[in-house]
Amino acid sequence: MSHTPSIHFIVQPGGSLRGRIRVPGDKSISHRSIMLGSLAEGTTRVSGFLQGEDCLCTLKAFRAMGVSIEGPTADGRVVIQGVGLHGLKAPAHDLDMGNSGTSMRLMAGLMSGQAFDVRMTGDSSLSKRPMKRVTVPLADMGARIDATAAGTPPLVVHGGSALHGRHYDMPVASAQVKSALLLAGLYAEGETSVTEPAPTRDHTERLLRGFGYAVHTDGNRISLKGGGRLAAMAIDVPSDISSAAFFMVGASIAPGSDLVIEHVGMNPTRTGVIDILRLMGANLAVQNLREVGGEPVADIRVRAAKLRGIRIPEALVPLAIDEFPVLFVAAACAEGETVLTGAEELRVKESDRIQVMADGLAACGIEARPTPDGIVIQGGQLAGASVTSHNDHRIAMAFAMAGLRAAEPVTIHDCATVNTSFPGFVALAAGAGLGIRAETGH
Ligand code: S3P
Repeated sequence: MSHTPSIHFIVQPGGSLRGRIRVPGDKSISHRSIMLGSLAEGTTRVSGFLQGEDCLCTLKAFRAMGVSIEGPTADGRVVIQGVGLHGLKAPAHDLDMGNSGTSMRLMAGLMSGQAFDVRMTGDSSLSKRPMKRVTVPLADMGARIDATAAGTPPLVVHGGSALHGRHYDMPVASAQVKSALLLAGLYAEGETSVTEPAPTRDHTERLLRGFGYAVHTDGNRISLKGGGRLAAMAIDVPSDISSAAFFMVGASIAPGSDLVIEHVGMNPTRTGVIDILRLMGANLAVQNLREVGGEPVADIRVRAAKLRGIRIPEALVPLAIDEFPVLFVAAACAEGETVLTGAEELRVKESDRIQVMADGLAACGIEARPTPDGIVIQGGQLAGASVTSHNDHRIAMAFAMAGLRAAEPVTIHDCATVNTSFPGFVALAAGAGLGIRAETGH
């Protein structure tokens, strides 16, 4: 992100988090609302849309392919005039997916079924991320996709391919891979099916059903048949539990905290962070559980608690995959040792989240030993430090919360990418009691 000014966070030590807050809309659902709304017949109205840079990349890509999309308004309303599954037009330029792996991988599937070619590019982080996990099974369905020799972006997806439904036994638990194949399956002849090694977020399946498309789930096997239609719907996007997670940890580790996070998405494929924090002794109360547009939603009350180190159950890893940076901060504040295994996927996220967190925690005086598929963290007293996020939004926000328990100020460099998933983070966190300010420049 060399073209944007660098932003640093400076966090004063101590404080507590109190009051009631609402974090921005769910990133995964916001991406999918644009994709499926564009391909539906009729007008799809979205509320609570996440105006983060990642989702705006998806939105601009569909506009570039001729879809009329109004908004987002300041309060997150978007109106999409769907063009139907075969109504997209060739874009006049490359599609820039910015920092967003979700856009790139899901679109690789969708673009495989179009009549035209597209070239998809990304920023320096996305340009290093592995794409063979989608291009190889898509090629087996008949797609033609070019990547670099290393299997990284840019991707050129060639149109006009006849896709055939296939079965794919996924080697990695990845909702992005599952979704790319199911979205290609909309255009394939016959049945497309996947089996997942462990449950992953199921927003694609839920939304497809909401748009009136039959998707079958039988244990760990998910399938659909090509050639159907999507009928427009209204989508109310809940707050992103992955964004709420920073505040769940912050309020847990900061003495005197009592915080309610409102309207949080509680999809059972996303709530691993709550299970892990409870195993560590956190005081989390799920209140007012209700259903909003096919997704469970609740308010979460978090009070400070004494946390203990645990061995994190591997079955919870895919259900908390984006929350580990901040869970490592919880582990650093816990009594005893926390051990994570089975999480090698963290090494290929927006940064190598195992190494980058281990380096940052070590700078804060915490013993954190990376392993090939996880980390071992010894709880202790956090010192003040200067750390870098490596342009990874979740690393930046995780270390911001660490400031609540640090002995001296914590400075975090390269925080501009926080806007990819959590616009307004600094103001919201400061309003809840975190001593944070952002500085632009050197
Ligand atoms: C996402 C799936 C996850 C997650 C990402 C969003 C999605 O990636 O890390 O932030 O919207 O499908 P993987 O499926 O690759 O684990």
